[in-house]
This record gives sequence, C-alpha cells and structure tokens, in this order.
Amino acid sequence: RARVAVLISGTGTNMAALLYASRAPDCPFQLVLVASNNPAAPGLALAAAEGIATFALPHKGMSRADHDAAMDAAIRASGAEYVALAGYMRVLGTDFVQRWDGRMLNIHPSLLPKYPGLDTHVRALGAGDTHGGCSVHIVTAELDSGPLLDQTPVAILPGDTAETLAARVLIAEHQLYPRALAAYVGRERAPDYLIGRVRELALALPEAD
Ligand code: GAR
Repeated sequence: RARVAVLISGTGTNMAALLYASRAPDCPFQLVLVASNNPAAPGLALAAAEGIATFALPHKGMSRADHDAAMDAAIRASGAEYVALAGYMRVLGTDFVQRWDGRMLNIHPSLLPKYPGLDTHVRALGAGDTHGGCSVHIVTAELDSGPLLDQTPVAILPGDTAETLAARVLIAEHQLYPRALAAYVGRERAPDYLIGRVRELALALPEAD
C-alpha cells in the first residue's frame, strides 16, 4: 500500500477521513505520518491515539526554507511516498514543492479554478453562485492551481452563510479526498479525460442572477 504523510494545521477532519478510509482492507494507501506546524492541532492527538506517528514543528521564528526542510526530513524519515495536504495553512516553498512534484495532493474548499486562496465560501456566496464545492489537485508552485484530480459541487441553499456552506462542503470533502487519493496512488496519474471533465464541470456551473 502506498505510504502517505498527511500535513495539517488544525482540526484535521480530512486527515481523519483519510485515516479511517485507509482502514478498509482494499484501500490502496496507508498513513505513515501526520505532521503539523501547529503542535496544538487536535488532529495530532487523534492520529497518535490511532497509532500513527506524528511530528509537530511550530514555524514561528524559523525561516520558511528551514521549516520546509525540517518537515521534509520528517516526512522522508517516515518512508512516505506521497504527501497529502489537509488544511495545511502554510504556503510551501518551491524547493519543497519540487521535491514532491507529482506526489503531493491538496484539498481546497472551492470548485477550482474558482476561488483559489482564502475565504472561498464568502466569495462563492458573494458571486451568487449556485454551487460551492471542493477540489483535490496536484500541488504545483502556483497556489491552488495544479492539475485537478476530482471535485464535488455542493448546492448553495437559500439563507446559507459561509459557516453553513462550509459545514456541508466539509462533508463532501470527507468523501472526496479518500476517493481521489486512492484513485491517484492506484494509477499514479489521473487520466487526462478526468482532468478535462472536471474542469468543464467547474466552468459550466451556472451562476445565479
Ligand atoms: C478544509 O475545509 C480544507 O479544504 C481547508 O481547510 C479545512 C481544513 O479542515 N483547506 C484550505 O483552505 C487550504 N487552503 P480540517 O482540518 O478539518 O480537515
């Protein structure tokens, strides 16, 4: 089974989704490390209680390059072959991204290419979109812009706030990420038709007037 390190900064519910998906006997990946820039991240305690190795290193007072290098060393020491970013709220430098080129995935709470960056749900609501959603993509040097592997649209309801929408999108994320990661490590590369199809889907979604 493919060995995966998960990087988190916060609650770690996506990490938990990956972890429990990995317990299925036919799951093609296993978690070998959960690492964080935040030693208080609740997901670290959960991972430790579930018998997964953990690593925490606060980034405060460290250069980005030094912090990235320490994270990279810990990930390599774990034997991980893939890195899954799951609410890792720190931008990774180009050296780190290069080292894990094609082997690092991220989940983002929007229908990329819409709304890279922060406050995705506020922006979807403000634009009058009919759907928010989530995307899993390969990490490249440009933020939230690497090749899409899969995504799930989530209908926006009347009266939605960023919080209520985020909560529903998070449910979709927990389904999407294990599926996308399993598909990716299972066949190494997403087929081009899938990337084309999800891009079309994202661009074709109607906006409300
Ligand atoms: C998730 O919604 C994830 O998509 C988002 O942070 C949340 C983490 O929740 N990631 C980003 O915004 C990345 N820029 P979790 O810690 O419960 O998985």
